[in-house]
Parts: sequence; structure tokens; C-alpha cells
Amino acid sequence: MKLILLGPPGAGKGTQCKRISDKYEIAHLSSGDILRAERAAGTELGQKAQDYMDTGRLVPDDVIIDMMIDAIKKSAGGYVLDGFPRTAVQAEELDKALFEAAEEITGIINLQVSDGRILSRLTGRRSCPQCGAVYHIENLKPRMEGICDRDGQKLVQRTDDTPEVVADRLKAYHEQTSAVVGYYRRRDKTVIDIDAAGGIDDVTASIFSNLDVLCNRIG
Ligand code: AP5
Repeated sequence: MKLILLGPPGAGKGTQCKRISDKYEIAHLSSGDILRAERAAGTELGQKAQDYMDTGRLVPDDVIIDMMIDAIKKSAGGYVLDGFPRTAVQAEELDKALFEAAEEITGIINLQVSDGRILSRLTGRRSCPQCGAVYHIENLKPRMEGICDRDGQKLVQRTDDTPEVVADRLKAYHEQTSAVVGYYRRRDKTVIDIDAAGGIDDVTASIFSNLDVLCNRIG
């Protein structure tokens, strides 16, 4: 299965992609996680991305496209894309690469949630710098406050999860990314709209039931 998960910052893309990846045994390819790993490693790519990420702006298309197409080529067993494509240019380049490989996207999941819910989700997010597990100080607490359940690491807050940067990320989403859903609808791709305003487990159940139908359909 080759999936794309779309949605605004804080919609729950990373949380749900991890669950989809576990259940359907496909790779989770997150452009944000790859960029953060590049930054942590101090690579040239990471340095190029740093200022954009810290100010809530999109990293330029040419930086992202090669990085993600490369990751996709290494995931022949299927994948769920998290945070990519984020502009019409990225979607077009992804289509070209898939066409050249005689592949196509199985479906697009579009998480829908209002801006009003997003701020508390993002300012309350904590994540593990070691394994990438994501928690929330209210909605998804670790067993021990501030400590990752999986590997005992101290949880951290992302530098772009401040109210000011979240506002800029939402602006970038509305101006540049929200139109990507329309791009796929116009090409008659399977777009599954999911109400992501409910609890994490309810959203997962809704995604899984839709994906099970999709799996049966493609055989
Ligand atoms: P990226 O890392 O992709 O950030 P994002 O899209 O802003 O999304 P988030 O990771 O913040 O949120 P999410 O939807 O994954 O939510 P999560 O599951 O963690 O990108 C970061 C930056 O990198 C961008 O700003 C840009 O600069 C750059 N970048 C990345 N990709 C790019 C691209 N393709 N092109 C150009 N630039 C790019 O959940 C959030 C919190 O809410 C968690 O604490 C979670 O526990 C909680 N939560 C989740 N679901 C629910 C729920 N249903 N109810 C209650 N709480 C919930």
C-alpha cells in the first residue's frame, strides 16, 4: 500500500502514521522527521532547512523533493507519506517519479481539524529525541511524566511548537498546502476525508476502517 496522509500541523499525521505503519507493515516516511534527523546530524541539507523550520516556513521544494523521492525509492514494500507533498510542485514531482517507476498512490487520507484545536495540541506535544515517540501533556501522557515509555529518554519540546511559530505554520498550510487535496481530487485519486477533531483512538479507528475497505478493494 502506498499512502499519503495530509492535514494541517498538529492534525495528528505523525501519531496516525506510526499506527498505520505498524498495522499495515509499511514504512513511515516523514519529511519533518527526516529534516530533523539531518539537522541533528549537522548535514548541509539540515543546515539549509534550519532557518525555514524555526520560522514556520516551508523548506524550498528543490531541497525536499530529492530527499523524499530518494526515501520512497528505498521503500519498495509500501509506505505512508507524512508531510509530503506539501505544495503543488512537490505533488507534480512525486507524480512524475511514480509514473517513471510505473507505480501509483493507493489512497490519500485527509485529516480535517479546525485551527482552534491545533494550538493546544502543538504546545502540549512532547517527543522522544531517541525513538521519535510522540506524547501530549494532556491527551497522551507517558507513564512517567517527561520520560519516554519505550526507552526512558527525557522528552523534549520541538522548537517550532511555540504559539508564534505555530501561527506561521498554519499560515503556510493555508496558503501553500491545503490546495494539495484539490490537486488529487481533480486527478480522481481516492481521497478519504477523516474528521480528526475527536480523540486519538477514534481517529485511528476511522482511518483503519477506511483502509481495510481500500485493502479489500485492491486485493
Ligand atoms: P512537520 O514535522 O511535518 O510538521 P507539521 O506538518 O507541522 O506537523 P506536525 O508534526 O507538527 O503535526 P502532526 O500532524 O504530525 O501531529 P502529531 O501527530 O505530532 O514539519 C516541520 C517543518 O519542516 C515545517 O514547518 C517545514 O518547515 C518543514 N517541512 C516538512 N516537510 C516539508 C515539505 N514537504 N515541504 C517543505 N517544508 C517541509 O500530533 C500533535 C500533538 O497532538 C501530539 O502531542 C499528539 O499527541 C496530539 N494529538 C494527535 N492527535 C490528537 C487527537 N486526535 N486528539 C488530541 N490530541 C492529539
